[in-house]
Amino acid sequence: MEAINILFLLSSIWILSTTALDTIPVNQPLTDGTAIISSGGKFKLEFFSPGASGKRYLGILFNEVTVQTVVWVANRETPLNDTSSALNLTRQGILTLMNGSGRVIWSSNSTRHVENPIAQLLDSGNLVVRDDSTENYLWQSFDYPTDTALPGMKLGIDLKTGFRGFLRSWKSRNDPSKGEFSWVFDLRGFPQPFVMNGSIERYRSGPWNGRGFSNSPSQLPSPDYNYTYISDPEKVSFMYQLTDRSILARVVMQVNGVVQLSIWNNQTQNWDDYDSIPANNCDIYGQCQSYGFCNSGNTPICRCPDKFEPKDPTEWARGNWSKGCVRKTSLNCQNEVKFLKYPGIKFPDTRFAWYSRGVTLNACEELCLRNCSCMAYANPDIIGTNEGCLLWFNELMDIREFGASGQDIYVKLDSSELGNSSTKKVKILSISLPVAALGLLLALCLILYIRRKKKDQNQQHFSKGRGTRSSEMFCTNENKDKELDLPLFDFETISHATNNFSLSNKLGEGGFGPVYKGVLKDGQEIAVKRLSRYSAQGTDEFKNEVIFIAKLQHRNLVKLLGCCIQAEEKMLVYEYMPNNSLDWFLFDTDRRSLLDWPKCFHIINGIARGLLYLHQDSRLRIIHRDLKPSNVLLDTDMNPKISDFGMARSFGGNETGAMTKRVVGTYGYMSPEYAGEGKFSVKSDVFSFGVLVLEILSRKRNRGFFHPDHNHNLLGHVWILFKESRVMEVIDAQLRQSCNQSEVQRSANVSLLCVQQCPEDRPSMASVVLMLGSDVALPLPKEPGFFNGRSQSTEADTSSSKHGETSVNELSITQLDAR
Ligand SMILES: *[C@@H]1O[C@H](CO)[C@@H](O)[C@H](O)[C@H]1NC(C)=O
Ligand SMILES: *[C@@H]1O[C@H](CO)[C@@H](O)[C@H](O)[C@H]1NC(C)=O
Ligand SMILES: *[C@@H]1O[C@H](CO)[C@@H](O)[C@H](O)[C@H]1NC(C)=O
Ligand SMILES: *[C@@H]1O[C@H](CO)[C@@H](O)[C@H](O)[C@H]1NC(C)=O
Ligand SMILES: *[C@@H]1O[C@H](CO)[C@@H](O)[C@H](O)[C@H]1NC(C)=O
Ligand SMILES: *[C@@H]1O[C@H](CO)[C@@H](O)[C@H](O)[C@H]1NC(C)=O
Ligand SMILES: *[C@@H]1O[C@H](CO)[C@@H](O)[C@H](O)[C@H]1NC(C)=O
Ligand SMILES: *[C@@H]1O[C@H](CO)[C@@H](O)[C@H](O)[C@H]1NC(C)=O
Ligand SMILES: *[C@@H]1O[C@H](CO)[C@@H](O)[C@H](O)[C@H]1NC(C)=O
Repeated sequence: MEAINILFLLSSIWILSTTALDTIPVNQPLTDGTAIISSGGKFKLEFFSPGASGKRYLGILFNEVTVQTVVWVANRETPLNDTSSALNLTRQGILTLMNGSGRVIWSSNSTRHVENPIAQLLDSGNLVVRDDSTENYLWQSFDYPTDTALPGMKLGIDLKTGFRGFLRSWKSRNDPSKGEFSWVFDLRGFPQPFVMNGSIERYRSGPWNGRGFSNSPSQLPSPDYNYTYISDPEKVSFMYQLTDRSILARVVMQVNGVVQLSIWNNQTQNWDDYDSIPANNCDIYGQCQSYGFCNSGNTPICRCPDKFEPKDPTEWARGNWSKGCVRKTSLNCQNEVKFLKYPGIKFPDTRFAWYSRGVTLNACEELCLRNCSCMAYANPDIIGTNEGCLLWFNELMDIREFGASGQDIYVKLDSSELGNSSTKKVKILSISLPVAALGLLLALCLILYIRRKKKDQNQQHFSKGRGTRSSEMFCTNENKDKELDLPLFDFETISHATNNFSLSNKLGEGGFGPVYKGVLKDGQEIAVKRLSRYSAQGTDEFKNEVIFIAKLQHRNLVKLLGCCIQAEEKMLVYEYMPNNSLDWFLFDTDRRSLLDWPKCFHIINGIARGLLYLHQDSRLRIIHRDLKPSNVLLDTDMNPKISDFGMARSFGGNETGAMTKRVVGTYGYMSPEYAGEGKFSVKSDVFSFGVLVLEILSRKRNRGFFHPDHNHNLLGHVWILFKESRVMEVIDAQLRQSCNQSEVQRSANVSLLCVQQCPEDRPSMASVVLMLGSDVALPLPKEPGFFNGRSQSTEADTSSSKHGETSVNELSITQLDAR
C-alpha cells in the first residue's frame, strides 16, 4: 500500500517538475524517461518507442493526445538500442544525441554561435535553439520536418541556401526511417508541389492560383484554416494555419502515399480524417496522359477534349489511356494557328512552362503565337490583377475537369479546326431544342427525300400536284406495312417564315447549327433547326427509330412538324415552345420564382404522363434514355413537352430492357445499372424521372450538389431528410410559400421510390402516375442508387473499361449506339 502511495507521489512530483520545464539549458542533458513539455502543454519532447519495435527514438509528440502521435523524430535513421542515451545542448548551441557510450548519433547543426544558447520546445511543436535573450533561432526542428506538417510550419525551398523543407513518409508504422513517399516542391517552370513515390510523380497539386493550389477545390481555404504561400526570388514556401488555435491538427505524408489532414476529436479520443490527397483516380498523376481530360464523375474517367482524338483509339476504347490524345489536325508552324479556350480545368503540369509576371492575357497570347513550340497559355492568377502569363512548351499533361471551380487555358490549334466561331462550345450548353435527334431526323428526311425523288421519277404527277397546290409537300414512305407522312417544307417557305434566317429570329446555336424562330403563313409559330452542312450524320440504323418518333403523338411530347431538304440545306421544323426549357426556369434565381408549386406539380404530372405514354401507351415501347430538365420544353401554358429522342430506343411488346456497350445519356440522371453496366430498361427512365422531380423540388442540380456536412449527393441528402421527416427542408424557400405540403411530400416520396438502387424496386410509370394523382398509401423508399457523390465517382472509376465518348457536364453523351 505504502509503496504505491510513494510511487504515486513520486510520479506527481515528476509531472509537476516536467510541466514547468519547456527548455533544455546548456549541459543539463535530457535523459530517457524524462520529457520537456511546451508551455501551453500541447507538445512534448521525449524518448519513445513506436509500436512494439523496442527501438528508442527522440521525438516530439502531441502531449494531450491519448494515442501516441509523433510529429517529429530526431534520429529517424539511427535508432537507439536502449534507454541509456541523452540529449545535450553544447555551449556552442548544438543539440547532440548520444548513446550510452557517449557516441554522438545525431546532432543539430548551426553555423552561428551565441553567448547563452537554450533549446526550447514551443507550443507550436517547434523545437528551437535560440539565444537566451532573443527570439533569433539558431536552429529549429520546423526546418527539418519528418512526415508531419504542423500549423505554422513552412514547407518549401530557400533559393539562397538551397535548403529544402519537405515531408518524407515513415518506412512503416513502426519504423520512422525514410519511406518511399515524399511531399516536395518542384521549382522547375512554375513551382508546384508534388507527392512523389520514389522518383515517380504520384500526385501534383498544380500551381498556386492566388487562393489555393490549382488541383483541389476542396483544399481551398475554409473558415477553419488558411494558407500562406510565398514565392519570391529568395524562397518558395507554403504554410497552413488554423483559425482556432485550440484545435489539434496535423498533415501527414503517410506510409501508404496519402497526404492526410486530420483533426483531434476530444470526444471520441481519435484523429478524424479531414481531407486527403490523392482522393480519387483523377488525382493520380497523368491518369489520362497528354491532353486527356480526367473527370472522376464520368464513365470512363478519361476523354479527349474537343478538337482532340485518342492517339491509339483501339487501346483508348479499352480504357488504356497510355498514349493520350492528340490534335485532330496536328500543328504546323507554317500554317495559321488559333487558340481555343478550355474552361474549368486543373492546369497541366507546369514544370516545363514559362512564367512571367505583369503580362496581360492578350500579350500572353501574342507571345505564344509567336513561338512555334508554345502549345498553350493561361493566366494562373484567379485573384488580384489580371496580369500573369504562363506558357507551356510541351505536351499538356495531367489535366482535370473541374467545371466552375477550375481555371481556363487557351490551347493552340490549327486554324482550320476553328473556322470563324470559336465560341460554339459554350453555346451548346444553352440550346433548348433537341440536338441529338436532329442528326437522326435528318437521316430520315434524307432517306425520305431520296425515296420521294425515286418516286417522283416514276410518278411525276405526284410531285407536281402537291407542289403546285401549296408550298408544303409530303414525303411519304412505305415503312414496313405502315405509311408515314412527314411534311416536307420547301426552302422558300422556311426562308420566308424566318425572315430570311435573320439574326433577330435566331433563338440559339447548337452543335448541329443555329435554331431560328419562324411564323408560317397560317400564323403557326415554328422553331427551325438549320443543320450545318458538315453535320450530316446518322445512318440507316436509326431509320426505324426516327420513324417511330415522327409517329408519336401526345400532348406531353414535343412535335416534329416536318423537314426541309434542298441542295445543301437540311432543316428540321418543330412546334415553337415560347417558354424554353425547364432548366431555363429551375436553375435561374429570377425566373424560378415564376414556377410556383401548382405549376411545378402540373409539370411533374405532365412529364409522368408523357413518359407513361412512351413506355406503355404508344404502340411502341420507347425508352427515352436522356430525360433531364433541359429536354423538357414548356409551351405558352407551361405544359411540359418531352423532347430530344436522339437516344431513345424502342422495344417489342414483351421486351422490357436491354444491354448496351455504349452508354449514352447524361450523368447525374443515369441510373446506376445503366451508367455502370450499360443495362437499360423503362426503369432507368424511371430513375431519371425521380432525379428530375427532386431537382424540381429542391431547385438544385443533382450533379454538382454540395452539402457542407456530408458527402451525399442530392438523392442521398433528400433521403436522409425524408427518413427524419424533415423533407420540407429541401424544398426551395420560394417554392415553400406556394406549396401544398401533402403534395410536396407525396412527390418527394414518389421520386425517392423512383431512384432506388434496384430497378425491380422502382415503380412503373403507371404506378407513378397513380401515386401522384391519388391518396394511395405510399411504400417507404429504400436507399437511393448513387447515394453519395463519392460512391458515384468510385463506380465510375472502376468501370473505366466502358466504351464510348463522353462530353462535358450537362451535355448528353452523344455517341450513338448501334442496335
Ligand atoms: C545498436 O546496436 C548495434 C549492434 O548491437 C550497433 O551496431 C549500433 O551502433 C547500436 N546503435 C546505437 C545507436 O547505439
Ligand atoms: C554536454 O556537452 C558539453 C559540451 O558543451 C559537455 O561538456 C558535457 O560533458 C556534455 N554532457 C554530457 C552529459 O555528455
Ligand atoms: C554506442 O554506439 C557505438 C557505435 O555504434 C557502439 O559501439 C556502442 O556499443 C554503443 N553503446 C551503447 C550503450 O549502445
Ligand atoms: C546541416 O545538416 C544537414 C544534414 O543533416 C546538411 O545537409 C546541412 O548542410 C547542414 N548544414 C550546415 C549549416 O552544416
Ligand atoms: C510506388 O512505386 C512502386 C514502383 O516504383 C510501385 O510498385 C508502387 O505500387 C507505387 N506505390 C503507389 C502507392 O503508387
Ligand atoms: C491565417 O489565420 C491565422 C490564425 O487565425 C492568422 O493569424 C493569419 O493572419 C491568417 N493568415 C492569412 C494570410 O489570412
Ligand atoms: C477534452 O475533454 C475533456 C473532458 O471531456 C476536457 O477536460 C478537456 O479540457 C478537453 N480538452 C480539450 C483540448 O478540449
Ligand atoms: C496500352 O496500350 C499501349 C499502346 O498504346 C500498349 O503498349 C500497352 O501494352 C497497353 N497496355 C495494356 C495494359 O494493355
Ligand atoms: C520559344 O520558347 C522556347 C522556350 O522559352 C525557347 O527555347 C525558344 O528559343 C523560343 N523560340 C523562338 C523562336 O522564340
